[in-house]
Amino acid sequence: MKLLIKLSGESLSGGQKEAHSQYNEPTLEGIVREIKILQEAGHSIALVVGGGNLFRGQELTGKLSIERPTADYIGMLATVQNALVLRDYFESKGVETRVSSAIAMPQICEGYIPQKVQRHMTKGRVVIFAAGLGAPYFTTDSTSVQRALEMKMDILIMAKNGVDGLYTADPETDSSATLLQEVTASEVLKRNLKAADQSAIALAKEHGLTIKVVGVQDISRALEEGVGSTITPK
Ligand code: GTP
Repeated sequence: MKLLIKLSGESLSGGQKEAHSQYNEPTLEGIVREIKILQEAGHSIALVVGGGNLFRGQELTGKLSIERPTADYIGMLATVQNALVLRDYFESKGVETRVSSAIAMPQICEGYIPQKVQRHMTKGRVVIFAAGLGAPYFTTDSTSVQRALEMKMDILIMAKNGVDGLYTADPETDSSATLLQEVTASEVLKRNLKAADQSAIALAKEHGLTIKVVGVQDISRALEEGVGSTITPK
């Protein structure tokens, strides 16, 4: 199968919030291990990486006169930084990896060309999509859905840090929160469940893309039943 895995920026830091801890090596090691298991099982892998471990646009919008589009562009640059870190780390572990950026920066990485991405995947390389969609007002969640659709991926796996699926409420603050094993996209939208942002969920629903929400430690088991939460496009 062709799998698109969305890694949040926080999933690279292993949840550490202090300075100089944007990346947590045991966490990165775990991610590579999980991806290798999927590759060995014959799956093709592409990744969309967020940037939240480095920069949170929403927190800066309005401060220092920074406008929302500017904050979003800075966020896109943060995703490029994460993609480069991941690429070198993956390559050091023997996983051939290419970075495909929505914003042209030819000295730094390849630009996004769907056919080239397809070729990399056919050759068993991991492709990391960087710079989001290259346009402000779109999140990396929306990027994941768009890239999954354009690249005809079979499923979008959203790998989360600190949770192992989609809950009825935030399990950190609400002890009555329960895990939803299967839920429709309509239900996620109606109940405003925090799986991904609403426009991403709506796009997946409209175009028939299934989303699986799992903990970052469960990536290799994401296709198994009873692991994480499935959001069906209904
Ligand atoms: P094949 O066509 O299958 O051989 O793919 P390849 O990625 O191995 O070869 P290619 O000649 O396309 O790229 C060789 C190396 O240069 C790879 O590490 C690419 O990621 C990198 N590369 C390709 N295009 C660009 C680019 O526009 N900018 C940057 N910075 N690197 C690039």
